[in-house]
Amino acid sequence: MGHIIAKVQKAEKETEQVSLLTLDISINAQPGQFVMAWLPGTEEKPMSVANASPLQLAIADAGEASKKMASLKKGDILMVRGPYGKAFSPKGKKWLMVGGGYGFAPLRFLAKEGIKKGAQIQSIIGARSKKYLMKEAPGKNHFTTDDGSAGEKGNVMAVLEPLLKKEKFDCIYCCGPEKMMLAVALLAKKNKISCQLSVERYMKCGFGVCGHCAMGGWLSCIDGPTIDGEEALKNPQFGKLACDRAGKHVKI
Ligand code: FES
Repeated sequence: MGHIIAKVQKAEKETEQVSLLTLDISINAQPGQFVMAWLPGTEEKPMSVANASPLQLAIADAGEASKKMASLKKGDILMVRGPYGKAFSPKGKKWLMVGGGYGFAPLRFLAKEGIKKGAQIQSIIGARSKKYLMKEAPGKNHFTTDDGSAGEKGNVMAVLEPLLKKEKFDCIYCCGPEKMMLAVALLAKKNKISCQLSVERYMKCGFGVCGHCAMGGWLSCIDGPTIDGEEALKNPQFGKLACDRAGKHVKI
């Protein structure tokens, strides 16, 4: 699949670390899918879709290529190919989003689409501190920060555990640091609630050829990035090991 040349229509600073770029193109993507974004002269990067029409990408300024993308301004060009990967699959009507850091971006897209279809949505949005908190989604929002500078003090579990004692949900959708997703998947299993995660691995091709994004025999780019929580828990590398850019296993 070739690249589409997109122009930045709007560049907003969503958090201290994240730029929300609105591009002048729309793509036929579902929440949970990703695109490969490229600035000539830098490495191509997978970016989860934060909105499909117009296409929005929430870019964290981590790493050289992403830093350059995050500093793009109105009128700048970004090359995009995709969408790729498996989207989240809607389940029932009562959904709970659990997002850590910029991992909340695809969940907000899912919440927007869910509300249009009549789903009842709550979101738990967590970050290290207030300046790293992503903006709210439609529905009811709960915020947590590790340092207590906004919302509940602690990580997303500080809200998730008591909430699951009070209310029933048909599905938990979760995206963020892998250790956080591991804890959420274990709690969902204990409470017998269906759970879907978005597992990120280092990606090169985006369509199942290079093998860089493998988590055991599971390829994040074509088998995922979304994965059922119970399936992830059965994968011995989930929450433990990932490949770096040289293809070497490193601890998470
Ligand atoms: S990124 Fe190449 S196989 Fe997944």
